[in-house]
Amino acid sequence: VKKKNVINHRILSGIQPSGALHIGNYFGAIRQHIELQQKNECYYFVANYHAMTTIKDPGQLRENSMLVAVDYLALGFSPDCASLFLQTDVREVAELAWILSTVIPLGMLERAHSYKDKIAKGIAPSHGLFAYPVLMAADILIYDSEYVPVGKDQKQHLEMTRDMALKLNALYGDEVLVIPKDLILDEVAVVPGVDGQKMSKSYDNTIEIFQSFKQTKSKLMRIVTDSKGLEDPKDPDNTIVHLYKLFADPKDVEAMREKLLAGGYGYGHAKKELLDTVWAYFEPHRNRREELLKNLDFVEDVLRKGALQAREKAETVMQRVRKACGLQRFV
Ligand code: ADP
Ligand code: TRP
Repeated sequence: VKKKNVINHRILSGIQPSGALHIGNYFGAIRQHIELQQKNECYYFVANYHAMTTIKDPGQLRENSMLVAVDYLALGFSPDCASLFLQTDVREVAELAWILSTVIPLGMLERAHSYKDKIAKGIAPSHGLFAYPVLMAADILIYDSEYVPVGKDQKQHLEMTRDMALKLNALYGDEVLVIPKDLILDEVAVVPGVDGQKMSKSYDNTIEIFQSFKQTKSKLMRIVTDSKGLEDPKDPDNTIVHLYKLFADPKDVEAMREKLLAGGYGYGHAKKELLDTVWAYFEPHRNRREELLKNLDFVEDVLRKGALQAREKAETVMQRVRKACGLQRFV
């Protein structure tokens, strides 16, 4: 990793390769990841073990995993500043997950919202899905991570991670695991989807970062509004404006709000302005992505290098853990 003048903190985050990345992922997580890489020691990984809880097609898992890496690079991840790797390239996380599973009370896992939400949506309730937070805790703790930038929906998982680390430390020694903190930006904590609910792959309301102009347009035209006519004054606190705010300058947002309040400006007009802004925003990243797709060997190299860096850190932490827990023959 290239030396930076100031290394503030060790940062880690993961993203599941469960489908095409959307603007909720971008503003809720990825943008922060990219910003943080300059001044911190950052580890980002593609959570392919986690995605096995929902994706059962090997070809699809492999392809999605690669595409997440491509998209990270296209969106500004710099392999000179930080590490990007596949979760499966550091297999010790599965070992640490086992160790943590011996200290986490069952009741805590039973209270996990995300497990309940996922089975309510029809995902098969496997042991892997139930134990998902334990593997996630291992992902975080194995790199002595200090901060974990995520969206608000991951807050409980971070609390569980801290709990597991504290429990393990209480048993085996205060200094065994570093206690991490979440890093959640309030202003973009929940990005709305086209139906006004939280944007999520499982709600069919996403706007993908990388798709054709036509697809982007048809998604944005689906944004749900009230039925006010062209001439009517409109409430500017609507989904179009909430999304526009993520992309546009504050003065342009204010101008859109005023036009809506004044009347004579339809939701169709606002959607068109949003579309042009979204399209222009990702233009440089789209071009970079096209280049990367033609050069997948480069992406492989980035992942290989990232895995080496991550493994080096993980091995140090695992030696400390094994020793503390009595899993090493010699002390
Ligand atoms: P999805 O809900 O579409 O399956 P993931 O659970 O894979 O998304 O989320 C990946 C990352 O993106 C997480 O850090 C999550 O908190 C963040 N994220 C996902 N959806 C949103 C959203 N609508 N608003 C803000 N952040 C989000
Ligand atoms: N659970 C996260 C999500 O669904 C992905 C993830 C797995 C993760 N392991 C992690 C995020 C470790 C941060 C740190 O979005």
